[in-house]
Amino acid sequence: MSRRYFIAGNWKMNKTSSEAAALAQGVVEAVGNVSNVDIAICPTFTSLETVEKIIEGSNVKLGAQNMHFEKSGAFTGEISAAMLRELHCAYVILGHSERRQYFKECDCLINKKVKAAVASSLKPILCVGETLEEREANKTIEVVSTQTKGGLDGLTAEEALKVVIAYEPVWAIGTGKTATPAMAQEVHAEIRKVLAGMFGENVAEKIQILYGGSMKPENADELLAQKDIDGGLIGGAALKADSFAALVNSAV
Ligand code: G3H
Repeated sequence: MSRRYFIAGNWKMNKTSSEAAALAQGVVEAVGNVSNVDIAICPTFTSLETVEKIIEGSNVKLGAQNMHFEKSGAFTGEISAAMLRELHCAYVILGHSERRQYFKECDCLINKKVKAAVASSLKPILCVGETLEEREANKTIEVVSTQTKGGLDGLTAEEALKVVIAYEPVWAIGTGKTATPAMAQEVHAEIRKVLAGMFGENVAEKIQILYGGSMKPENADELLAQKDIDGGLIGGAALKADSFAALVNSAV
């Protein structure tokens, strides 16, 4: 496969700064020298600076979990792309299902954030995925295609190359239920078709598509063996250095 594997840890609203420091230290010690897999950890905003100092010089990159699309202004509680870049973030997770569900983020808003991130040289990890109701109503492909098209609307092919997609079936997030490798592969292949339709086959073949949803060391090998699964966006299993390292090692 020409695409590199990418294992990203989304720490969500977990870990104080001191706890984040300890976890980041454990990750660096375990996999900081791994050079043939892209690795990122995404702590809360309050821990970014602390974690950055710990991972500096290693192969572990820093990511944020959200950002605003505006450059600055009266947006209480928000964070801009430039603020994240100054803390050496390389990635930003956008459109996570928890943002869509609890904070009512829509494709249009997420698209503005994707564009603002790319314009600031931050790589967006654009999350897409269907709810259980949508899967049961056979709407998975429709939902995921709409979210992918909506999130990437207006990007040039060159800009699309700077984006990572994460397919996260909402029913599999934090539930212990994982999509079977075949189920996940089917959706990943469809996402790649959508990307090919938008940006051409060549570009689509180069974009990393991660799987997320109860991915753990026990099921990683089978998922990563699928043709269109290029890594994982890991929640629960990223909160311990040993399980996150095991996931990275599955991708080596
Ligand atoms: O961003 C990560 C995903 O929401 C997956 O979370 O691994 O805890 O299911 P999980």
